[in-house]
Amino acid sequence: MWLRSVALILLLMLGLAWAAEPGQAGGHTLNILDGEASAFNREVRGLLAWVMGFAALVFVVVMGALTYVTIKFRRTGKESGEPPQTHGNDRLEVLWTIIPTVIVLTIFGLTARSMFRLEQPQPGAMVVEVRGWQFWWDFHYKEHGVRDSNQLILPVGRPVTFEVTGGDGSNYDVIHSFRIASLVGTRDAIPGVVTRITVTPEKEGNYYGQCVELCGASHANMRFRVMVVSQEEFDRWIAEAKAYQASAPTDPTLQRGEELFKQQCAACHGLKGVAQGLPNNPDLTFFGNRTTVGAGMWPNTPEYLEAWIKNSPGMKPGVKMPAFLHLSDQDVKAIAAYLLSHRIEGFDFDKLEKF
Ligand code: CUA
Repeated sequence: MWLRSVALILLLMLGLAWAAEPGQAGGHTLNILDGEASAFNREVRGLLAWVMGFAALVFVVVMGALTYVTIKFRRTGKESGEPPQTHGNDRLEVLWTIIPTVIVLTIFGLTARSMFRLEQPQPGAMVVEVRGWQFWWDFHYKEHGVRDSNQLILPVGRPVTFEVTGGDGSNYDVIHSFRIASLVGTRDAIPGVVTRITVTPEKEGNYYGQCVELCGASHANMRFRVMVVSQEEFDRWIAEAKAYQASAPTDPTLQRGEELFKQQCAACHGLKGVAQGLPNNPDLTFFGNRTTVGAGMWPNTPEYLEAWIKNSPGMKPGVKMPAFLHLSDQDVKAIAAYLLSHRIEGFDFDKLEKF
């Protein structure tokens, strides 16, 4: 009987191990233990190794003792009455109090050391304000006065401090949590509260960001992308982003797109040089440089963008943007083409390696 149970448990564990293999999401390997890209993740990985080591030790000792007792004292059928009973063992009780206490204190000490290391202020860190909204992310480069939504461009090798907060104090605000899986995390995005987290990205690439606090119907669809580029590329990006002014289109489709954008979208969405928008909606200034639509959800192609404009609530539950089913396909195409035409030339973020 017990042999069958052990076999069943082994099978179950094998199944779990298989199911837990690093998954792919839009080409991203989600691995919070990836230590290649930041000292932050390496520190957390080191800490986890200790915790898992102790957990394995406890598992082996407890399960070993349990297995031994179960086999050794199992009913054989030859018993007559109750076996001899034992009560209390001072030495054992002291031992099994001291050992867990030592383990807990060791983990406490290691955790405190890691937290102290990770909280060290980094001189010369660039400050980016991160604001979580239902269900998207806003980024504000404070020293440069540049705003971008759902996509964050960072220079490699320079510390960046994220000032994480949420919403604007309205009734719809809930708590989100900021995490870039292979780089840094986690900090809660709490309306009215600013929490800080600092990291130095060490490797260029396209990183996967995700909200990690249950926040409503589209919690799982609240994603963003982080592009880590060379310092030169970043400097060029930020200078052009700062100076960006949308120019009046000459192409008739784009002219129609601009007209429609002003009528349908501009009350909510900002686009530098065209519309101020409102801070509680994604900024669309560099939409042509975005790699995704719908806050990290779909590739930023005309097809997905058109589908999104037409019926975003049908694609992402709980989204605040209404459907624009009354617009003709041609009008939707014109708006999409217009949005995609706003880009800073010379950047192809889709080419970056994904993490
Ligand atoms: Cu925002 Cu989960």
